[in-house]
Amino acid sequence: MVQIQKIFIVELKKTKMENTLHYAQELDKNDELGHYKEQFHIPKDKDGNDWLYFTGNSLGLQPKTTQEYINQELDDWKNFGVEGHFEAKNPWMPYHELLTESMAKIVGAKPIEVVVMNTLTTNLHLLMVSFFRPTKTKFKIVIESDAFPSDRYAVESQLRFHGIDPAVGLVEWKPRENKELLRMEDLESILDTQGNEIALLLIGGVNYYTGQYLDLKQIAKLGHAQDCMVGIDLAHGAGNIQPELHDSGVDFAAWCTYKYLNSGPGSLGGLFVHEKHAYDKDIVRFSGWWNHNKDTRFNMRQPFDVIPGAEGWQLSNPPILSMAAIKSSLDLFATVGMDALRKKSIKLTGYFEFLINEMNNQKIKIITPTNPNERGCQLSIQVKDADKSLHTKLIEANVITDWREPDVIRCAPIPLYTSYEDLFNMVKVLKRLLED
Ligand SMILES: Cc1ncc(COP(=O)(O)O)c(C=O)c1O
Repeated sequence: MVQIQKIFIVELKKTKMENTLHYAQELDKNDELGHYKEQFHIPKDKDGNDWLYFTGNSLGLQPKTTQEYINQELDDWKNFGVEGHFEAKNPWMPYHELLTESMAKIVGAKPIEVVVMNTLTTNLHLLMVSFFRPTKTKFKIVIESDAFPSDRYAVESQLRFHGIDPAVGLVEWKPRENKELLRMEDLESILDTQGNEIALLLIGGVNYYTGQYLDLKQIAKLGHAQDCMVGIDLAHGAGNIQPELHDSGVDFAAWCTYKYLNSGPGSLGGLFVHEKHAYDKDIVRFSGWWNHNKDTRFNMRQPFDVIPGAEGWQLSNPPILSMAAIKSSLDLFATVGMDALRKKSIKLTGYFEFLINEMNNQKIKIITPTNPNERGCQLSIQVKDADKSLHTKLIEANVITDWREPDVIRCAPIPLYTSYEDLFNMVKVLKRLLED
């Protein structure tokens, strides 16, 4: 965890918060990042009232600059055709390189360790091709029992691809009975007992369901002590927490950009391969022309010569329109900076937690960790005896949240576009619906 955040959290704990609209508005007035909300399109109801949007952990809102960035590429395509690869304002040939530095900063990596390409599940597969190399004796993969379904399916299919029955090869890191959160000691004991058979840990850095942010450095340390490869799904981490991927020592990571990184539905993903693997040309991988040496790519008929670093996992020439949307969002992130963003996020979610606790409703339990070091912005709120009709009523009241069966509402206050007043109003609606 970044040092400035530790100091900030200690200071924040001393603050006495108030459950009043006036206090929420004062927080907004003093919020240095408050004006960024104006840079986003906030969806509205049919009467023109803004939605209270808490699903940026599912699909981030559209920055107002995105259209302009995409239009630039449409114009360049219109005006230059194929020559746009070299003549466009931002030439398409090296376009992905424009994203690398700011993306690397967001996840705490070196530029050589990061590339934007494909989509998340595809990237997880490509990374497992390289980093899941099972042997007769070391062939298992550990995931969280509550891993996102796509990760589970991807892992099961990789095991089957290698002729391994998932019933034998898949090991689940589970919360203890009647608990929701994972404990590092339990991963440690899995590794103590089965470490000699485990080839890979593939763990969600921030769990999609509980919002728990796991200690990546510790996971890497435990995994590496048993000679396992360590990979992280950062779908719920990128643009949310500061995972410091390079320092964590994990071997690889992959994430999407359509959640916290606001790049639009189904947009491209990010991929990290630690520098320690950057120059190893012997790593088994799938290839295409785009991970071949840039200097000789167009000489054609050259023997394959892999690019060092994360770019060495690319396959195809990338979709520029999608990358333009990512660029518009990353340019915004570069202006704000992750330190400032995370600071606001800690404060914002802390206020949200305070307001929910103030409801003093016995039916409600926040299952996300209370320690800001162990969560991002999302709070997962369990509502006893509730069903999906609560979620529907929230939508009818312009509060957009995410419902997870059987009884959890996931809400993500987004530091770039959620105000303290939004939180106050959201909790007011929730309170009313629960009392009705
Ligand atoms: C944690 C996690 N992993 C994987 C995925 C799948 O992503 P994609 O459809 O981009 O492959 C998601 C999608 O929301 C996710 O939240």
